[in-house]
Amino acid sequence: MPSALKYELVARCSTTKARAATLTLPHGPVSLPLFMPVATQASLKGLTPQQLEETGCRLCLNNTYHLGLKPGQDVLEKVGGAHNLQGWKYNILTDSGGFQMVSLLKLANITEEGVRFLSPHDGSPMLLTPEHSIALQNTIGSDIIMQLDDVLVTTSPDAKRMKEAMERSVRWLDRCIAAHANPARQNLFCIIQGGLDLELRKTCCIEMVARNTPGIAIGGLSGGEAKSDYCKVVNTCTSLLPEMKPRYVMGIGYPEDLVVSVALGADMFDCVWPTRTARFGNAITRCGVLNLRHSRYANDFRPVEEGCECVCCRQGEGGLGVTRAFVHHLAAKETVGAHLLTMHNVHYQLSLMRSVREAIIEDRFPAFLRQFFRDRYDGDKT
Ligand code: GUN
Ligand code: ZN
Repeated sequence: MPSALKYELVARCSTTKARAATLTLPHGPVSLPLFMPVATQASLKGLTPQQLEETGCRLCLNNTYHLGLKPGQDVLEKVGGAHNLQGWKYNILTDSGGFQMVSLLKLANITEEGVRFLSPHDGSPMLLTPEHSIALQNTIGSDIIMQLDDVLVTTSPDAKRMKEAMERSVRWLDRCIAAHANPARQNLFCIIQGGLDLELRKTCCIEMVARNTPGIAIGGLSGGEAKSDYCKVVNTCTSLLPEMKPRYVMGIGYPEDLVVSVALGADMFDCVWPTRTARFGNAITRCGVLNLRHSRYANDFRPVEEGCECVCCRQGEGGLGVTRAFVHHLAAKETVGAHLLTMHNVHYQLSLMRSVREAIIEDRFPAFLRQFFRDRYDGDKT
């Protein structure tokens, strides 16, 4: 199928499966490996598009399910898509909606036709089919669109249902490909399913790779599985995927998981955790997560993270020079505390991936990994 992206390999790690690449999308280039912040409702909670731009973000996530309900397809059509709606001139990836329904609305019911659910607005019955998801994503105009997949949110479903979900996801990919109206302007990614069963995963990889989509996602993880199972699934899949296409592991965002997944050959990640946890007063730092609501920060006049170059922490020209004491003071009632930590956390995630990329290019990624884990486990936790 046609593609609207260019994947250029920049460097490969000589001891792990890590890769550095440049991915050029319709709204500009992004550097891989990459973390994508989640702007569910066409907005990153607490940040203006300009503030998101200032974190260095050039590709963020929206959800088809949320935008399809509100503002809805009519408004999206009139305004000319999600870029116009949110005033965002860089890239957008939309998830197809099925996963959100199954995880948010426990009442969703999956059949061969699609995902049936009751509208959270008025309780009326609705059906999201692969064709409808693609039509919505075509209207949204996102640079990367995701196939509708049959996702199981439990880590221990019965084997028969897992096989059915994997095979159905392949059939739904064919329906998505047939329905896709703009393959030269929007990149459709397939999603590998199969749970923790490595044989199912292998079969799924072979089937999906044969459909030749511009990029490939690995789904059905981040559901609380053991880290060893997670690593086996990612490693098995990346071994079967084409070298010259981006590989996206869905729903992953803890810093430890990001660096390990890169070592296993994955390139792209998304997760609500960094932005959600900011709203609970948590700052992600090199040495771990600090909860700035703790009373120990009331008189701590250091920046949120020493040496951090984000707008929040940076002192002098263009920086806000925010202290931990200030965020602590704001945390309980004032939303600005959450906005500042959101900027810091998004910056942390993006800058971690930039450091990973540099380490791969300079062929010192294994040493980088060792230092990364040393900092997290032995570093200053105050
Ligand atoms: N987000 C996290 N995991 C998944 C998945 O398996 N499928 C989809 N569509 N979205 C996800
Ligand atoms: Zn910072």
